[in-house]
Amino acid sequence: MKDNNNHSEQRRDFLKKAGLLLGAGITVTSLSSLIVSCESDIIVPSYTGPVTVNLSSYSQLATVGGTVKVDSFIDGTKNPASFILRRVADKEYVALEAQCSHIQGEFNLPSPTSSNQNLVCQYHAAEFSTAYNTDLTKEGLLAADPNGIKPRKLIAYQVDTSKLVSGIIIVTKT
Ligand code: FES
Repeated sequence: MKDNNNHSEQRRDFLKKAGLLLGAGITVTSLSSLIVSCESDIIVPSYTGPVTVNLSSYSQLATVGGTVKVDSFIDGTKNPASFILRRVADKEYVALEAQCSHIQGEFNLPSPTSSNQNLVCQYHAAEFSTAYNTDLTKEGLLAADPNGIKPRKLIAYQVDTSKLVSGIIIVTKT
């Protein structure tokens, strides 16, 4: 119920802002492209990367099993790029879509000692696997769906560890 209220408030805010823009002389055509662009921002994380991550900035990743949300930018641009980053072994990392694939719920992130190592959506409790596999087919799979939402698998990003010796990894969408 609280989720619905949040979404209603966000929608009201958006429509209010849209109304202000219209009042300021923005045309209907540009307003509709604004709506499409906002909707696509909400539904599909569209960046391809690369995003260079300096691991020394994330103390949680000093431990295997540590998980963080990275809010960064595509290299050399001001285009934002966010993802969940998890250290699954000494030299292996998993990078997944930053928010739930249903309606962008934020995730509860597991700690290395959590009994449940899935990402758990704060909105409708869908769970996604943080398991690692080399071809990315299992990373981000739906692991539990107690409310029958049926969200799609999370996007899994490629993680380049060739510069790990310098404390750097590079995350790219395949
Ligand atoms: S937003 Fe995550 S299950 Fe609905």
